[in-house]
Amino acid sequence: MRRIKYDGLTFEPYIGNDRITARIKEIGQQITEEYRGRRPLLVCVLNGAFPFAADLFREIDTDAEIAFIKLSSYEGTGSTGVVKEIMGLTADITGRSVIIVEDIVDTGNTIEKLISDLSSRNPAEIKVATLLFKPEALQKDVKPDYVGFEIPKKFIIGFGLDLDGLARNLPDIWMLSPECENNAAE
Ligand code: IMP
Ligand code: MG
Repeated sequence: MRRIKYDGLTFEPYIGNDRITARIKEIGQQITEEYRGRRPLLVCVLNGAFPFAADLFREIDTDAEIAFIKLSSYEGTGSTGVVKEIMGLTADITGRSVIIVEDIVDTGNTIEKLISDLSSRNPAEIKVATLLFKPEALQKDVKPDYVGFEIPKKFIIGFGLDLDGLARNLPDIWMLSPECENNAAE
């Protein structure tokens, strides 16, 4: 089997680029049909979602716009834990049909926070498109509307997903090899 190593961890092939491309095409067709005439605004969450967003955007065959945001995270004081704030959203989303584009929904913390922040800016609607979804890891009451692949609670890299900033440029998605799992940072 092909293997790849990052930071001393071994990864195995998991989802090939052909399957990823085919699935993104299907989601693009679905969005095209559901949003015709509504000019949806895709909001791509940097950094991880950029390859998915770029491909998905080009598979939408009706008028659509795209904007990019980044989340800054820092440790809050006391028991508030990690706080994330939206950076860079200059577009006015009042009355817009927003589709948040994410690489992966894991615990659901990020997407929950995003939905609540964007909701306060009075969009007509907010939906979530994610390339990957780990249902077993979900801790929040959120459900993505468009899912590329449901996957088990394992660490993956490639197609935008990183390990300490590396591996985002891999065309395929790779899964941490079982013998490395105990060493991996979740
Ligand atoms: P959340 O737990 O749903 O808030 O996900 C937080 C972020 O963790 C995601 O946007 C990803 O950047 C990252 N993440 C979660 N699972 C993985 C993974 O398997 N590989 C790489 N990054 C991940
Ligand atoms: Mg992300």
